[in-house]
Amino acid sequence: MTAASESPRPPVLLSEEQIRRRVSELAVEIAERHADTDGLVCLGILKGSVFFLVDLVRELPMPVAIDFLQTSSYGSDSSPGEVVLKKDVELPLVGRDVLVIEDIVDTGHTLATLLGLLRLRRPRSLELCALLNKPDRREVEVPIDYLGFSIPDRFVVGYGLDHAERWRNLPYVGVVDV
Ligand code: IMP
Ligand code: MG
Repeated sequence: MTAASESPRPPVLLSEEQIRRRVSELAVEIAERHADTDGLVCLGILKGSVFFLVDLVRELPMPVAIDFLQTSSYGSDSSPGEVVLKKDVELPLVGRDVLVIEDIVDTGHTLATLLGLLRLRRPRSLELCALLNKPDRREVEVPIDYLGFSIPDRFVVGYGLDHAERWRNLPYVGVVDV
């Protein structure tokens, strides 16, 4: 018996097929709203959004540039949801159509901070596409322009999402007890 088989896979919340279908629908929505663009800058938030980003951009018909940023969050009683930028975008965003691609919006602090920061760079448009949303956990308002799925307040892994760096490579979204 291998170590892997001793550790049961998390139960399925969203199957590969459900995710694939929804990603295609999101690509159609994005393409329709950006019929006039000369190109989108797609910004993935490391690391969780990577699987979603590569599947989504392959279905977009317009020219796409890709870049990444990374945050970490220092949640404490004195600074709840303080978000720190660990890696900034390298591409210039001024005058560009920018689409931020994120795995999940939970309390909203990460995206509220990031969108505020990116807006200062004066993009022509700035939108958010999130695969998952946990509305019950929201602490600050975040406008989600394109949403894959709303999910209950459970901790999810897979399709890029991790629990302590584990389970990112699951091909589906599953639930773990934390
Ligand atoms: P927020 O700032 O609370 O909205 O948190 C966003 C970040 O928390 C996400 O980008 C994820 O990295 C992480 N996160 C929140 N909920 C989950 C979850 O259920 N599974 C894995 N990561 C999560
Ligand atoms: Mg994340």
